Amino acid sequence: MSESFDLILRGGRVATPSGMVEADVGVRHGRIAAIGHLTGAAAESIELAGLAVLPGVIDTQVHLREPGLEHKEDLATGTAAAALGGVTAVCEMPNTKPSTTTAAALADKLARAKGRAWVDHAFFIGAAAENVGELRRLERLPGCCGVKLFMGSSTGSLLVADEPTLAAVLSQGSRRMAVHAEDEARLQERKGLVEGGASPAMHPEWRDVATAVMATTRLLRLARPAGRRVHVLHVTTGEEMALLAEHKDIASVEVTPQHLTLAGPECYERLGTYAQMNPPIRDEAQRQALWRAVEQGVVDVIGSDHAPHGRDEKAKPYPQSPSGMTGVQTLVPIMLDHVAAGRLSLERFIDLTSAGPARIYGMARKGRIAVGYDADFTVVDLKAQRRITNLWIASKCGWTPFDGMKVTGWPIATIIRGHVVMREDSLLGEPAGHPLRFLETLAG
Ligand code: DOR
Repeated sequence: MSESFDLILRGGRVATPSGMVEADVGVRHGRIAAIGHLTGAAAESIELAGLAVLPGVIDTQVHLREPGLEHKEDLATGTAAAALGGVTAVCEMPNTKPSTTTAAALADKLARAKGRAWVDHAFFIGAAAENVGELRRLERLPGCCGVKLFMGSSTGSLLVADEPTLAAVLSQGSRRMAVHAEDEARLQERKGLVEGGASPAMHPEWRDVATAVMATTRLLRLARPAGRRVHVLHVTTGEEMALLAEHKDIASVEVTPQHLTLAGPECYERLGTYAQMNPPIRDEAQRQALWRAVEQGVVDVIGSDHAPHGRDEKAKPYPQSPSGMTGVQTLVPIMLDHVAAGRLSLERFIDLTSAGPARIYGMARKGRIAVGYDADFTVVDLKAQRRITNLWIASKCGWTPFDGMKVTGWPIATIIRGHVVMREDSLLGEPAGHPLRFLETLAG
């Protein structure tokens, strides 16, 4: 029987659930309709010989800054950066201005994304003392990927630091909760260390290993009796990885490409405040500990913590300089470079960047190249040698901590629900990202 398709991807090496196979992929009505040697007709056909066709990469931690912080980034520029970097979907963080803590704020973000977002998307609701009683309802709204909890203060005003409120937040609702785990009391106690003209290299001294370990320990202690699943964002220490490994029934784990790639003191000497983020980039021994946790399977997801700030803001003296760096556009090339260097397999890359995100948040029809799933693909050239430059960065701030880095492996095309939105470093067509749908709230 000869079928007809809207699109056929021809001749690539396709990452299927049974492994890498040389195959065509047929797409109909935005979904994968067939995988194999396809003889049917297609409205559009793309030759991908020599390239790898991966499930669409999903970045579950990006700050796109709209509303209120549009001078740093907005939903159009941030999602353009995502598409150019081979990312097909993003989960966006609530530390905007005002913070995303209400149904109206979520609806506003969804309306702003319509016709402007280049990739599929969902938004976190921020946990705050004022909305604790509402969280159970808010986390189930369409377009919401769950609740985000800041246990330590970072960019913006979102913070839940006292134990009774933390326990209340964890008891309200049932979806997996994303958590920034740094201990606020210790951060305040140690702030004096960086006041009065300290160097950015002091950032990991102020926000030290104990600051992270204390918060993660407390989180697990409170989440356990609540039976609450938590996703610990940007884990930076081997000590936390050991703890988290003991709680894999309720805890999933994210690491970022920057914590796997950069290390102090070198990065602070070279990049100054551009290497400043929360939690901080630590030393080489901790970077190695994160890689061990990747190897051991403790890490579920790689998220970029894309957190753009302008050069003028980063030029302020530390610690007035804001924390955060761009990342959504460089996630794929940086991690493919690690694949090329033999630090992780392509299979593990897929596990961490598409299967993992889809699994931990229960994303409907995402994260897998299989018939019936959305036709989302990150097409990559595993051998391409390219240089990451600030000029390539589509974010408003126009910089990346990886400027000048030579990498092996590059995203060649981004395909979302059968639409080719990026090819050879150019955006194509119009922004047509959709809200993500989640297994736990499909009726919503
Ligand atoms: O470095 C960071 N920047 N860490 C965060 O937790 C927030 C982020 C931001 O929004 O700038």
